[in-house]
Amino acid sequence: MQDPGPAPHVMRNADIDPKAEKRAEQQVAILFGLSGVSSLLLIYSYVFIASDVFVFIPVMGSQNVQQLGLGLGMSFSLLFLGLGAIHWAKKLMPETEVINHRHEFRSSDEDRDELVKTVKHAAAEVKLGRRSLIKRSLGFSLGLFALPPVLLLRDLGPLPKKQLETTNWKAGTRLVTDPGNRPILASDLEVGAVVQTLPEMPDETERLLSDIAKDPVLLIRIRAEEFQLSPEKLAMTHDGIIAFSKICSHMGCAVALYEQTTKHLLCPCHQSTFDVTRGAKVIFGPAARPLPQLDITVDEEGYLIARAPFNESVGPSYWERNSQ
Ligand code: FES
Repeated sequence: MQDPGPAPHVMRNADIDPKAEKRAEQQVAILFGLSGVSSLLLIYSYVFIASDVFVFIPVMGSQNVQQLGLGLGMSFSLLFLGLGAIHWAKKLMPETEVINHRHEFRSSDEDRDELVKTVKHAAAEVKLGRRSLIKRSLGFSLGLFALPPVLLLRDLGPLPKKQLETTNWKAGTRLVTDPGNRPILASDLEVGAVVQTLPEMPDETERLLSDIAKDPVLLIRIRAEEFQLSPEKLAMTHDGIIAFSKICSHMGCAVALYEQTTKHLLCPCHQSTFDVTRGAKVIFGPAARPLPQLDITVDEEGYLIARAPFNESVGPSYWERNSQ
């Protein structure tokens, strides 16, 4: 059967009507412009919105605004860039069918010269030189699109310095429930009780994500005579109540499982197991050191307070090996 060949060429509006051509050109420019504006949103979110900012958005709950801005900026930047390119190709680029013959690896010099001529000819046909609006908007869009990856290099620094070694626990800070933010009376804790706590803050809304990552403390009450602690560690407890950092000393997961009969705390990530009676000594798993113990006592009203900050870094051992 004979090859019917390509379908007859149908002229587009933009091919025959200069007004339609101008309109299509403006539409392409708008799409590239929107892509550039989206990249600006990404850059703004990255540079000017603090990563710890929260807003309450009904339906979605608390959202990290910075992450939202980065995601929307990147998505719309790519989307509008793609839409602009497609629209440009469909409405304005020449529709001539081109057959690309295969050649063995390196083409002959004649073919290469021919290719250069063809490219120049095609460039002339696309009229890029004349379409300065598209040229400028595309340059605007691509230029800004290339910026965010460079900006992201900022995440390589600066070094955290002392941030990883300090928490919000200070002498006199009350322990409050999490969630609930209520101070805890020592007399309210029965033997066997386990409570997750955070340091009380004057304004709860100022608590940052980075605080929540470092500050949680587990409060456990056992019978005082069950402790097998050095006098120094025993002095950091109050009437059978002992407080440990909840951040695993292996890789920083939340040590969330307490087995009341054995008095063991278990980290669900890699099964490090800590013995509460012996000051969270590691009895199984990859953790290299006990959970840091918080020195606690009660204030004149009977509420539990920290007597001093942690005397060692909380969390994974690898960033504070010097203090071991
Ligand atoms: S993070 Fe807890 S055992 Fe690995």
